[in-house]
Amino acid sequence: MPAALTAPQRRRLVAAARRAAAAAYAPYSRFPVGAAVLMADGRVFTGCNVENASFGLTNCAERTAIFSAVAAGSRRLRAVAVFTPTPTPTLPCGACRQVLHEFGPGAPVLSVCAGEGRVETTLAALLPHAFGPADL
Ligand code: THU
Repeated sequence: MPAALTAPQRRRLVAAARRAAAAAYAPYSRFPVGAAVLMADGRVFTGCNVENASFGLTNCAERTAIFSAVAAGSRRLRAVAVFTPTPTPTLPCGACRQVLHEFGPGAPVLSVCAGEGRVETTLAALLPHAFGPADL
């Protein structure tokens, strides 16, 4: 069980995810998503969804964020935040759960939205019995 995030860590991560949604490229779904990942080294990386005219090539916000972290040399995921400007919170899709698990099994996940609702859970709860590096 990872240590709980401090209130400042939580605020910083949620604010970063909210800001990231402004860059979403979502002309097809019109469903902008922002994500932020806090890494064990303290760095925060953000991402947005990037869609494509060939729909299946879309990259979700969560994967954009974690790929940015890894590309910058930061691999240990500490926590994830997701923001959507919707009435209810959005949780990472199955593909993103798997990709995030690679770098931070058990990491806390905070999903926030334009409404009051928020979901606080963990990757372990979202992806039970996950397949990962330890299985190879
Ligand atoms: N999307 C994300 O970026 N993250 C999620 O957690 C759910 C879905 C994107 C993919 C697509 O651009 C749009 O939201 C609608 O599915």
